[in-house]
Amino acid sequence: MVLLFIIDPPEELKAYKDTTVAMMRAAQARGHETWFCSQAALHWSKSTVAAAATRISLTGDDQDWYRTHESSERSLRDFDAVLMRKDPPFDMEYVASTWILEAAERQGARVFNSPRAIRDHNEKFAIAEFPQFTVPSLVARAMEILQRFIDEHDKVVLKRLDGMGGAGIFVVRRDDPNRNVIVETISDLGTRSVMAQRFIPEIAHGDKRVILIDGRIVPHCLARIPKPGESRGNLAAGARGEAQPVSARHCEIAAAVGPVLAARGLLFVGLDVIGDWLTELNVTSPTGFREIQDQTGYDVAGTFIDALLSKVQ
Ligand SMILES: Nc1ncnc2c1ncn2[C@@H]1O[C@H](COP(=O)(O)OP(=O)(O)O)[C@@H](O)[C@H]1O
Ligand SMILES: [Mg+2]
Repeated sequence: MVLLFIIDPPEELKAYKDTTVAMMRAAQARGHETWFCSQAALHWSKSTVAAAATRISLTGDDQDWYRTHESSERSLRDFDAVLMRKDPPFDMEYVASTWILEAAERQGARVFNSPRAIRDHNEKFAIAEFPQFTVPSLVARAMEILQRFIDEHDKVVLKRLDGMGGAGIFVVRRDDPNRNVIVETISDLGTRSVMAQRFIPEIAHGDKRVILIDGRIVPHCLARIPKPGESRGNLAAGARGEAQPVSARHCEIAAAVGPVLAARGLLFVGLDVIGDWLTELNVTSPTGFREIQDQTGYDVAGTFIDALLSKVQ
């Protein structure tokens, strides 16, 4: 296969922990050719969606991790698969890229994850489709509705729908002296939608990243255990990543959610599960391959590339 990865500038990727780099390495190890381009290079015209792309090869080294080779302007449909691995923020430019990539699909390109599905699944809100696996949750922008939820549930988490990496997550109690200011701040005085969710105490044992590849669960998850004094189980917020076997509950969630998402072209999904509850459904550029691979020897990236191959053949 000849693969195109849409990524942030390679010099910004940290090869020792980056899932996209792990994918590229697994592809190369299987004899596939890898190219990359930036989101900014994508462009649509009536005849084609194309990008200035560069062939890349991978060294085994985590510091000096790549070599670049020839560059050319290429149509996306000329690749066997295009992998959208640009990191969020999921802003209007990300949405524009999904439009362009959908146009590329109409011209015959194979894009993963499906651009339409990336656009349709807000990573926070997407849990709404699976209420049997979610704790009491609310999405609202009216401050009095958010306040009522806090009164009802006593200890809640407030999160913006477009946040990531634990940014802008508040834990708030009914009697918190800053409660009103927190609600005003996070909702921008009632003008931005916010998710409120009952606080799940099992976060102390970690926010579990459960990986689905083409709807099937990877047998190891990554428990991201908050550092002392921190409520957020995000690696970006200093959490420790510990690979663990998946639980019966993880398998139950995956069995229900996996086939639905896979049928929509979501080849790789990162579920966030705290205790028994599904809290987030990551579809843009989920991570976790490398930590699981390093700690268990399970070849997550190889499994992904094999699944990709069977999709495009
Ligand atoms: N319902 C919840 N109960 C307890 N902690 C939560 C809850 N929701 C989120 N958190 C905390 O916030 C972190 C980030 O939440 P998440 O919804 O995954 O957003 P993101 O990872 O996009 O910032 C979690 O790792 C966890 O520490
Ligand atoms: Mg998360």
